[in-house]
Amino acid sequence: MRIAVLTERADGERRVAATPETVRKLLALGATVAVEAEAGMAASFDDAGYAAAGAEIGDRPTVLAGAEVVLGVQGPDSAGLAGVAPGAWVVATMNPFGDGGRARVDGYASAGLEALAMELMPRITRAQSMDVLSSQSNLSGYKAVLDAAAEYGRAFPMMMTAAGTVSAARVFVMGVGVAGLQAIATARRLGAQVSATDVRSVTREQIMSLGAKPVFVEGVAGIEREGAGGYAGETSPEYQAAQAALVSGHIAKQDIVITTALIPGRAAPRLVSDAQLATMRSGSVVVDLAVEQGGNVEGSVAGEVVERHGVRVVGHRNVPSRLAADASALYARNLLNFLSAFWDKDAGRPVLDAEIGDAIRLTKGGAVVNARLTNSGLNI
Ligand code: NAI
Repeated sequence: MRIAVLTERADGERRVAATPETVRKLLALGATVAVEAEAGMAASFDDAGYAAAGAEIGDRPTVLAGAEVVLGVQGPDSAGLAGVAPGAWVVATMNPFGDGGRARVDGYASAGLEALAMELMPRITRAQSMDVLSSQSNLSGYKAVLDAAAEYGRAFPMMMTAAGTVSAARVFVMGVGVAGLQAIATARRLGAQVSATDVRSVTREQIMSLGAKPVFVEGVAGIEREGAGGYAGETSPEYQAAQAALVSGHIAKQDIVITTALIPGRAAPRLVSDAQLATMRSGSVVVDLAVEQGGNVEGSVAGEVVERHGVRVVGHRNVPSRLAADASALYARNLLNFLSAFWDKDAGRPVLDAEIGDAIRLTKGGAVVNARLTNSGLNI
């Protein structure tokens, strides 16, 4: 079976879906692997490394010719996939609810391809090693703290010097999932005083175990659900008002705020208002990791660092791509773990089971088949 690895075409995308290490392991399964020329360049993996691992290197049409599996980071346009085997798998993050996502998915259906969206992998124990959201969010949480530190005109740790004392930065992390936990750990390592909040009460203990202070809304009912797989649900108006009051009091005393809050299939919750930004001290920094999902922070702009009331609001797009080498290495291993977990030796190719197949399969046999896309109005 032939596996094609594509050079990413999306603006600002530096990652790659396979590394020489994963190529070697895919070959060991019995596949052949063809890598598009310069696919790994922006992530510091050169063509010679892939060739040494045993991959064929070529231009896109050559690499795709007869491929049964196409690996990408972001879903490639179906128009650029001519020459693949009928019914070939396209394995990537598909973002079907984002800009242009649905049209791309329809394109896979018309081309008779089987599109598999890695970000829809169910959060079950056996799929943990295939979970691209976790592997990439972890790096985003780390990078968000470094991005904040780079924009901040002060130091993170307390320093006692002959010239005087520098006080520790106060960092507040909002949303304590995978990215938030890593942001807490990173800010602590840099010597900051860290506090954090989430709507899921289980995170309280996780925050404390990392040496940070939990800041929680107490005694207000109304989190609609602490959703399946550990995801958050939407909160009630009462909860939102209590959270806003709590955050207002806290945020005015913070130097750095890092927001990571997401609700699957919905716009990101608004956690910081313009009025709250105005209460922060001049020179403070807010990093909005949810900026591409609508933003947790009022006034954050995707792809830009903007100044509001003397506060820098950082809205980098595609943060994992800013650590392209490690993000690629982990993403590529997620794909390898996925393909090898389902590898059927007799068939010489991967064969999905229903639980994972139904969750991640977007198109098959010329049709859009995923329940999240076919149930009108339901996209979670
Ligand atoms: P996410 O990226 O969907 O959301 C980030 C965080 O924002 C979450 O902790 C969420 O509760 C929080 N949030 C949402 N609305 C908020 C609001 N209004 N105010 C404050 N915070 C808000 O979450 P992520 O990072 O994907 O992880 C969620 C959970 O899933 C974690 O507990 C993680 O350990 C668990 N998980 C389980 C896996 C498995 O079992 N295979 C794999 C990966 C994560």
